[in-house]
Amino acid sequence: MFSTLAETRFAPRWLHAWSVLTVGATVALLTLGAVVTTFRVGMADPIWPTVPWHLALIDWSEPNPGFLIEHSHRLAGYIVGCCILVLATGLWFSARRSWLKWLGVAALAGVLVQGLLGGFRVVLHARFGTGFAVLHGCFAQIVFSLLVSLAVLTSTRFAVVSLPLEEAAGVRRWSLLLTALVFVQLIWGALVRHTNGALAQRLHLATAFAVVAAAVWFVHLVLTSPAARRVLGRTLIWLGILLALQVLLGIESWLDKYAGVPMPEMRIPKTVGQASHRIAHVLVGSFILATTVVQTVLVHSFSCEPKASAESACLRLTAKQPDVRVSNNVSQLEGTA
Ligand code: HEM
Repeated sequence: MFSTLAETRFAPRWLHAWSVLTVGATVALLTLGAVVTTFRVGMADPIWPTVPWHLALIDWSEPNPGFLIEHSHRLAGYIVGCCILVLATGLWFSARRSWLKWLGVAALAGVLVQGLLGGFRVVLHARFGTGFAVLHGCFAQIVFSLLVSLAVLTSTRFAVVSLPLEEAAGVRRWSLLLTALVFVQLIWGALVRHTNGALAQRLHLATAFAVVAAAVWFVHLVLTSPAARRVLGRTLIWLGILLALQVLLGIESWLDKYAGVPMPEMRIPKTVGQASHRIAHVLVGSFILATTVVQTVLVHSFSCEPKASAESACLRLTAKQPDVRVSNNVSQLEGTA
C-alpha cells in the first residue's frame, strides 16, 4: 500500500523526466515538419528510406536549403523514435499500472506509423498527391498528444487527481467534445495548408468559431464546479492563452496566404521570418490539442464515490501542499487501477 506522496507515482521519477524530454524533442520535430511544409520542400529528396546519418554522407557543396531542412526533419524523427523506444521500454518494465505500460507501447507504435506515413508521403507522392502529407500532418498531432499525456500520467500530480462522479458528467462530455472539435479543426487546417481547397478554407474558419464557443462553455462548466476547477486548474489558463494566440496567428496566416493573391499555392515565403507565424500557427494548434487531451485524461482519470463530497474526494496535491488525506485517496486509486 502507498503511504507517502513520493510513492504515489505510477512510474519512476526518471521516466517522467525522460517523457518530458521526449515531448521537447517532439516539439523540435514538429517545428521542423512545419518548416518543411511551409517552404514546400517535402519532396526535396524523393529517396526514402535513408540512414539517420545521411547528412554526414553527402557532399555539402551540393544540397540546397530545402534538402537540408527535410533531412533535418528525418533526423529529428529518428531521435524522437529512439527517445520513445527508451520511454516505452522503461514503462514496460517499471510502470506500476498495466494501462501505462500499454500506452508506452501505443506511443512506440504511433511513432513507427508516423515515420512510415512520412516515407509514403515521399515515395507515393506521384501516385497519391498530397493525401499522405495530410495524413502525416494529422497523425503527428495524435502522437504528440499521446506523448504529452504520458508526461502528465507519469507525474506525481496525476496520481492524486480525482473528480467526483456527480460533478464530472458535463465536464467530461464537453472535454471530449472540445477535443474532437479541435482535432477536426486540425484536419481542416492540414487540408488548407496542403491543398488550399475552398471548402477546407470555409470549414476551417467555421470550425474556429465552434472551437472557441465550445471552449468558452467548457471553461464555464469547469468554473462552476469546485472539484473540476481544482483538477483542471492551470490547464484552463493555458487553453485560453493558446486559443487567443491561435486566432491571431490564424488571421495573420490567412492574410499572408490569401490577401490579394490569385494563386496562393505559388506564394512561398523566402525567409523563416516571413514564415514564422504560419509555423507558429501549426505548433500552437498541436499545443491546443495536447491541452484538451490532457484535460480529457484528467477528468476521465479517476472517479470517487458518487456520494463523496468534493472536498474529501477531490485532491490536487503538490509536494508543497502535503495533506494527510492523500493516503485515503491513493488507496482508492489502487482499487481503480
Ligand atoms: C481555433 C483554433 C484554430 C486551430 C486549432 C487551428 C489549427 C490549424 C492548424 C493545426 C493548421 C496547420 C495544419 C497542418 O499543417 O497540419 C492550420 C492552418 C491554417 N489555419 Fe488555422 N487554426 C485555428 C484558427 C484559424 C483561424 C481563425 C484562421 C483564420 C482567420 C486560420 C487560418 C489558417 C490558415 C490560413 C492555415 C494554413 C496556413 C499555412 O498554409 O501555412 N486558422 N490551422
